[in-house]
Amino acid sequence: MDRKFFIKTFGCQMNVYDSDYMAQCLINMGWSSTNNPEEADLVLVNTCTVRAKPEQKASTTLGRLSRLKKKRPHMILGVVGCLAQEKGEELMERFPLLDFAVGPREIAQIKETITKAMEKKERVVALDLDEPPPEPDNCPGYFQGRVTAFISIMQGCNNFCSYCIVPYVRGREASRAPQQILQEARSLLRQGVREITLLGQNVNSYLWESDKERWDFPRLLREVGGLPGLLRLRFTTSHPKDLSEGLIASFGQIETLCPHIHLPFQAGSNRVLELMKRGYTKEDYIELIENLRSVRPEIAITADVMVGFPGETDEDFHHTMDLIQQVEFDGLFSFKYSDRAGTLAATMEPKVPEEEKAERLKILQEFQKQVTFEKNKRLIGKTVKVLVEGPSRRKGQYMGRTPTNKIVNFPATEGNSLVGKEVTLKIKRANLNSLIGSLLN
Ligand code: SAH
Ligand code: SF4
Ligand code: F3S
Repeated sequence: MDRKFFIKTFGCQMNVYDSDYMAQCLINMGWSSTNNPEEADLVLVNTCTVRAKPEQKASTTLGRLSRLKKKRPHMILGVVGCLAQEKGEELMERFPLLDFAVGPREIAQIKETITKAMEKKERVVALDLDEPPPEPDNCPGYFQGRVTAFISIMQGCNNFCSYCIVPYVRGREASRAPQQILQEARSLLRQGVREITLLGQNVNSYLWESDKERWDFPRLLREVGGLPGLLRLRFTTSHPKDLSEGLIASFGQIETLCPHIHLPFQAGSNRVLELMKRGYTKEDYIELIENLRSVRPEIAITADVMVGFPGETDEDFHHTMDLIQQVEFDGLFSFKYSDRAGTLAATMEPKVPEEEKAERLKILQEFQKQVTFEKNKRLIGKTVKVLVEGPSRRKGQYMGRTPTNKIVNFPATEGNSLVGKEVTLKIKRANLNSLIGSLLN
């Protein structure tokens, strides 16, 4: 019998990785995937709860899929991921047609859970946070045709930044064994993947120890970076307070390690950084950037930042803008602070009014837009190496990224044979979010 599944994924790269993990489990159980929930026998919604917005999106989607299940009662509907962890029981009550809620540390249970739901019609809630990171149920050929892929090297977070719900929904830090990570990397490379991004909430605290061995993050980077067939290595995210000299030095030592770092700073005011419990100052952050640039002058820097943390004044916001002006980021992901239940910041007063947050976000984004555009324009006329990922959305064009992670589209007739290869392009035009190039030779 051909049974089909559909997975809708919200949130960060961790969730993308987890969705691939579950898809592989399902394929190994004899299911096949579909892009159309209307023809699926099983629908999974992989959720995020880091801010109010992704939570709302997940709820809306669950409502819509519940209505679909009314029409197709045999369909199994499950909620997984971070919102499932936070509000599993509540969601099961609110959406009576939901068959199960499974947290991110329990996704290894997905097979048993589905069997229970299908055969015994049991409603399951699985939210244990103490489970070790699951080892992938590798499905031969699953990644064929993909040029880039993620590997999760650790689960959870121990930092408890005062605004953040992640430690509550992803549990404590747990690093995976290096041999497992290397095995997964080799398997991806055999399937044709050429670029690997190592994932963790704070990759710099990666640590795996046995009686004889000690693996820290720079060592893991060196070993993965040296695997035959790998063209590019990236990682995300690292925390400024743990950005070691060893990691900074890696950017000058590991040839495959791309000159790009995503280093969230969150705020520029030392008073706010202290309230956030981030463990560094504005000056520390700027010094880290200087050190990174002295090791790898062309390194691209991106970051996350938020406005409207409780008690943030105009002067605090001015420090955030000052940091942004000093660093000149290649790109920024900027958010309005939102209260997350159970976090320390949710109890802090006074709250910044929504209009004020919106105003600050607008100022920040307008400024960053100009910097990003300016940096892109500086590349016009330059020659760049692009790893080709596939056809672009524009007809007759292909897309790839520079080592600094900038998207480049370029026209090509024989483009398919270039996928998975590095090509040399000359940049002709710059847009805000991408560049246009032409093939050299
Ligand atoms: N582990 C990563 C971040 C994971 S969450 C790190 O430490 O950098 C992704 C981003 O969401 C954060 O960097 C932060 O900018 C934002 N974020 C987290 N909690 C938030 C909240 N309560 N309100 C608004 N933005 C938040
Ligand atoms: Fe959240 Fe801070 Fe952990 Fe990042 S480091 S996941 S922001 S608690
Ligand atoms: Fe969201 Fe969970 Fe990632 S809350 S940002 S999906 S770790």
